[in-house]
Amino acid sequence: MTDRTFPAAGRPAGDVLADLAAKQAADARWADGRTFGLVFDGGDEVRHVADEAARLYLHESALNTNAFPSLGEIQSELCGWVADLFHGPEAAGFLTSGGTESILLAVKAARDRALAERGVTAPEIVLADTAHAAFHKGAHLFGLTVRRVPVGPDLTADVDGMAAAVGPDTALVVGSAVDYPNGLVDPIPDLAALAASVGANCHVDACMGGFVLPFAEMEGSEVPAWDFRTDGVSTISADIHKLGYAPKGVSVLLHADRDLRRHQTFAFDDWLGGLYATPNLQGTRAGLPMAAAWAVVSHLGTDGYRRLVRGTLDAADRIRADVRSTGGLTLRGDPRHQILAITAEDPELDVFAVGDVLGERGWYLDRQYPPDCLHLTVSNGNVPVVDEFLADLAGAVEAARDAHPGERGQYATID
Ligand SMILES: Cc1ncc(COP(=O)(O)O)c(C=O)c1O
Repeated sequence: MTDRTFPAAGRPAGDVLADLAAKQAADARWADGRTFGLVFDGGDEVRHVADEAARLYLHESALNTNAFPSLGEIQSELCGWVADLFHGPEAAGFLTSGGTESILLAVKAARDRALAERGVTAPEIVLADTAHAAFHKGAHLFGLTVRRVPVGPDLTADVDGMAAAVGPDTALVVGSAVDYPNGLVDPIPDLAALAASVGANCHVDACMGGFVLPFAEMEGSEVPAWDFRTDGVSTISADIHKLGYAPKGVSVLLHADRDLRRHQTFAFDDWLGGLYATPNLQGTRAGLPMAAAWAVVSHLGTDGYRRLVRGTLDAADRIRADVRSTGGLTLRGDPRHQILAITAEDPELDVFAVGDVLGERGWYLDRQYPPDCLHLTVSNGNVPVVDEFLADLAGAVEAARDAHPGERGQYATID
């Protein structure tokens, strides 16, 4: 039971820290490569650089970059580097706290642009079934209507269906590169052209793919068009705290140019506290994730990311090949990058029961539906344990055949 009594007397730091460490006992074992998602481990040196940067910036505030110009510089440099990576010479943006905040701000920017340029007062978002739930959150918070379109047979956005949903009230057309549920790249050039045809924004959600696709392309993989080289792409979100290997709390939202970026920010001075101008949903925001991200990206550089992406995609390919050859399981769609969704081919097999057995063996995999799937985001930390995982997966399939139905829950963070 949670102790709800406010601590009466302070306690020595050593005791407090020991208690905190003890609380972690049941947490997912990410440092052993046992989580496919949630925490992305770039390895010992990357962790060390992040730890030291975090120590330097633990107390700094990014609310006012006049007081902390170093954080302004860190933000400008990171945004510039990512713009360069995404081939956006004019692109400009801000750091945010994560993928959801980047997406919320992309929705707000699209809504405000549609109102300012086209007088749209009942704005709509057109998106595929696979678009991240954060777009629905954005629509809910900022008063847009979602026009949701089923994906096509290959599980990517269905361009004809999306075209039928686009109209004069469209503020935003969404594409993913890669999408969370299945790890696929939507037909971004077609979606961007649809958005442009009505003067709307096209957002590419590269929260997952932004630190994978550019390096996969450099490594010689065939990568569909998805970045600012595609006409009509207005905004791109990319999470440095995912496959960018920075600690939690940092993403980047880029706009194709500074003019589009105007619609992201909020400025207000009609109260008694002077000018309040922020590009974020938060007011006060931590300097720590920004500085740690700057340090990790600087430390890894292009060659470091290419190495990590190569290892990650090789590991994901091995898991894909194994799943396809294991009786009873199959993959959703034809993913080529770090995400894969495993579903049961055999109607007698409960894939969540497979997940439960894997859980008992110390593995943490996300769950999604419909249809029931185990969801893996493969990253560098998983590379050394792929053989062990595949052996446990085969064993779990056998064990699950006699087991009770599996648990369904995911993102259970409401309580
Ligand atoms: C494609 C995609 N977009 C957005 C998000 C949301 O990111 P966050 O959890 O950092 O808010 C995720 C998270 O997994 C994602 O995979």
